[in-house]
Amino acid sequence: MLKFPKAFVIAAASLLLAGAASAETYGLGRPATADEVVAWDIDVRPDGVGLPEGSGSALDGEAIYTERCAMCHGDFGEGIGRWPVLAGGQGTLVRARPVKTIGSYWPYLSTVWDYVHRAMPFGDAQSLETDEVYALTAYILYLNDLVDDGFVLDRETFKTVKMPNAEGFFPDDRAKTETWTADNICMADCKSDVEITARAQVVDVTPEDPTSKHRTAETTENTQPGTDGTVQLSSVAAPDPALIDEGAKVFRKCAACHAVGDGAKHKLGPHLNGVFGRTAGSADGFAKYSKDMVAAGQDGLVWDQDSLTTFLKNPKGLIKRTKMAFGGLKKDEDLAALTAYLQAEGKGQ
Ligand code: HEC
Ligand code: HEC
Repeated sequence: MLKFPKAFVIAAASLLLAGAASAETYGLGRPATADEVVAWDIDVRPDGVGLPEGSGSALDGEAIYTERCAMCHGDFGEGIGRWPVLAGGQGTLVRARPVKTIGSYWPYLSTVWDYVHRAMPFGDAQSLETDEVYALTAYILYLNDLVDDGFVLDRETFKTVKMPNAEGFFPDDRAKTETWTADNICMADCKSDVEITARAQVVDVTPEDPTSKHRTAETTENTQPGTDGTVQLSSVAAPDPALIDEGAKVFRKCAACHAVGDGAKHKLGPHLNGVFGRTAGSADGFAKYSKDMVAAGQDGLVWDQDSLTTFLKNPKGLIKRTKMAFGGLKKDEDLAALTAYLQAEGKGQ
């Protein structure tokens, strides 16, 4: 084998590299200067590395917040209109509709500091001084009841703040906790005999027919093992009582014209018992439907989660000349709560 002096080999290798590099360069740009790197390098790590020198108190933060943030995020971080909510929501992560805020959801304070520093106020990003970012971050903690109003945030006190949901995030441990591995996972023909052990049932979609034996399972019974040992699954989760309560409040907007629940009668609008699964314009004994509503029903419109949501958001958008004089509900939260309420309250009647 031929032997080359080491220096020669290295020189040849670097020539090769230089050749390869120039072939793949497009002749654009230039290396960043040291100052530019400093200006771009603004990220902050969960342990506080990267935080600049500075400080600010929650009290200072309040004044800045009122002037530059409250118009979107609300005086108490409650969010105005559809702007993001910054405070509250603790304990809601287990609900079907969690309220994810800095206090309830964010695991690291560094992300709050970095987010405000990098991106806020919306439309005027990076216009805040370092001390203002400290003060605003402290104030957001205060809005979430995590510190008191005298709290001063700086590089040292930063380390003392523990976010409530810090434990909610952890490194992906599936490689250890799952029973499958890359070697034993089956991707084709994994089972010779396939046997159906459970069936999904959609509850309250098919109108109840008392003469039929195939009554749909109640949500409360839907995980009881059957006599043959199989489990009946429901594709509809048990409704969230808090959501239904919210929906009852929203229903006040409808109550002048509609009734729902035991003994509900037609008013200006049809009663809404059994409205899930009802063909549009078909409530027995209601004579005041518009032509368009009846026609929509004849064309196959049946009230379900989707069609009700669309209709209640913008009645005239779905039924052009509907007689329902109602502008529509704008908030998705209200729509979700109301439909949950109608489904629960108007069940099977
Ligand atoms: C003009 C409206 C507006 C103003 C003013 C504003 N923000 Fe925001 N803020 C937003 C929007 C929009 C988002 C979501 C941006 C996104 O998701 O890309 C947001 C997101 C945030 C978030 C992340 C919230 C989350 O849970 O995702 C924080 C923190 C925040 N803003 C803080 C502030 C602070 C502090 C100020 C005042 C210095 C401020 N904002 C001013 C509109 C605004
Ligand atoms: C001012 C009275 C009024 C208000 C307020 C009102 N409705 Fe109506 N609603 C009606 C009338 C009248 C109809 C029949 C419309 C038609 O035939 O075009 C109707 C029809 C409906 C239908 C169709 C029923 C069917 O059998 O086809 C649903 C569902 C409905 N309303 C739900 C609601 C809900 C939920 C609210 C509250 C967010 C609401 N309405 C608010 C008067 C009202």
